[in-house]
Amino acid sequence: MVHIQVPATSANVGVGFDTLGLAVTFYGECEVELSDKLEITGCPVAFQTEDNLIYQSYKYVLEKLNKPVTPIKLKIDSDIPFARGLGSSAVCIVSGVLAANELHELHLSESELVTYCTQLEGHPDNVVPALLGGLSASYQMGDTIFYQHYPVDESYQFVAFVPDFTLETAVARDVLPESYSLKTVVNNQAKLLFLLEALKTGDATNLDKFLDDDIHQPYRKKLIDEYDIVENIAKKSGAKGFYISGSGSTLMGVYNQSVNMEALNDSLKSLKHHWRALDLSVDYKGANVCHRTI
Ligand code: HSE
Repeated sequence: MVHIQVPATSANVGVGFDTLGLAVTFYGECEVELSDKLEITGCPVAFQTEDNLIYQSYKYVLEKLNKPVTPIKLKIDSDIPFARGLGSSAVCIVSGVLAANELHELHLSESELVTYCTQLEGHPDNVVPALLGGLSASYQMGDTIFYQHYPVDESYQFVAFVPDFTLETAVARDVLPESYSLKTVVNNQAKLLFLLEALKTGDATNLDKFLDDDIHQPYRKKLIDEYDIVENIAKKSGAKGFYISGSGSTLMGVYNQSVNMEALNDSLKSLKHHWRALDLSVDYKGANVCHRTI
């Protein structure tokens, strides 16, 4: 039996729209073994079918390689909420691809794993950090997926503010303009370079300015009820920067000091949307696979 652990991810990181992704210390886990029939437990009954994304991803790799699709027994253990901008689908995809690789001894290279996961997800910005950990930029040009790791100073902590409502990526993309002014694009690319430096050095002096994106956040904020209130709460509790995690609905505060999580969660209690604050840091390991005998 194989145990697989995959980190949640926070894509975009403000000005890195469709490019940056950060793995965080919040994990989806599963146990998987070959079986004589498909058996899925540990998730809502609606996901215990052949359509389950972990199983679909497992099957996809085997079919691509013309291997027989052996049934599996899959036990899922994950609290990563669905459609909240924390890369829950990337966690499923990476888990399924790694399950195929391990159970069928495929010996796929890192680049092959990235390629299969990206083909399944449709974009690399969540699957690359989910597989490899840390902060990464990724970009697909034709059939080639370029990816690059960037350091994050250990002084940074990330607090995810997770509401009770979902926001589908397709909906959050529909509100974006089709074109942008030259000034907007130049501002964003300049901020991206300075953001990477601020994350590397730990100098948070201007972090809020460098996270302040003009490509997607102004349009998506409107879809996230109580955005301004949560931003104010985060800043009052010491956040040096704030951004929409992925396409939302989760919001992310970036801190460089310890946060009183109990007080922070208390201050969210009066809000309508049952926001939970999760204390996270950068996951540097990425997906982890281990074989167990029982
Ligand atoms: N980078 C994409 C977006 C995917 O913001 O729409 C988010 O997970």
